[in-house]
Amino acid sequence: MFELAPSLLAADFYNLESDVKGVLAAGVNVLHVDVMDGHFVPNLTMGPDMVLALKKHTNAILDVHLMVEDPDFFVTPFAQAGADWISFHIEVARHAHRIHQKIKAAGCQSGVVLNPGTPISSLEEMIHYVDFVLVMSVNPGFGGQKFIPATFDRLAQLGRLIAASDNKPFIQVDGGVGPGNIAELHRAGMAVAVAGSSVFGQASPGEAAANLISLVRTDS
Ligand code: DX5
Ligand code: ZN
Repeated sequence: MFELAPSLLAADFYNLESDVKGVLAAGVNVLHVDVMDGHFVPNLTMGPDMVLALKKHTNAILDVHLMVEDPDFFVTPFAQAGADWISFHIEVARHAHRIHQKIKAAGCQSGVVLNPGTPISSLEEMIHYVDFVLVMSVNPGFGGQKFIPATFDRLAQLGRLIAASDNKPFIQVDGGVGPGNIAELHRAGMAVAVAGSSVFGQASPGEAAANLISLVRTDS
């Protein structure tokens, strides 16, 4: 499995329609929506209305990454707005299993997210339930940061944890993903590549997306 999930955080909000149409025409099926509440991370981004607008006008899978202090509270509004995948950070999930159940009951795929400083072993229980795991390869909060190379070791650890489990969640990687590392990350187990600046930060997001997809396809 491989999907490129461009992160709208890096899009031109004044020209969102053309940015989104450009990447969808290039073969993108998933749009990554970064939700930040100014508490869990020092930045404020988009709410359910963004998901609602995208749902109305595209058939893309809407992948909502909740970087919020209280994920439990935000699951329902985003699910009702049309989110298809919802991921929450294990660092703030006091009731991770309950949040997971809420996401599933709303008909969405459920994912758990780990910051770069959070041990992979903190997933030992939730690995048995979730549909996907999002491994942060930068500290969350901002686009355009440098990829943290230790992510490769973490993917290997996560691969071992998944191999030992009956449940087989797919793996997303988010932060600093671009032409220089996307194929190697895919070989290391990444099924979904989240990419902000390497897609929407480029002069032609459609061409950039097509290039990233072909780098993985020609490598595998
Ligand atoms: C970071 C967000 C990312 C971000 C990625 O907190 O979760 O999704 O948009 O941006 P790049 O690809 O520029 O690192
Ligand atoms: Zn993200």
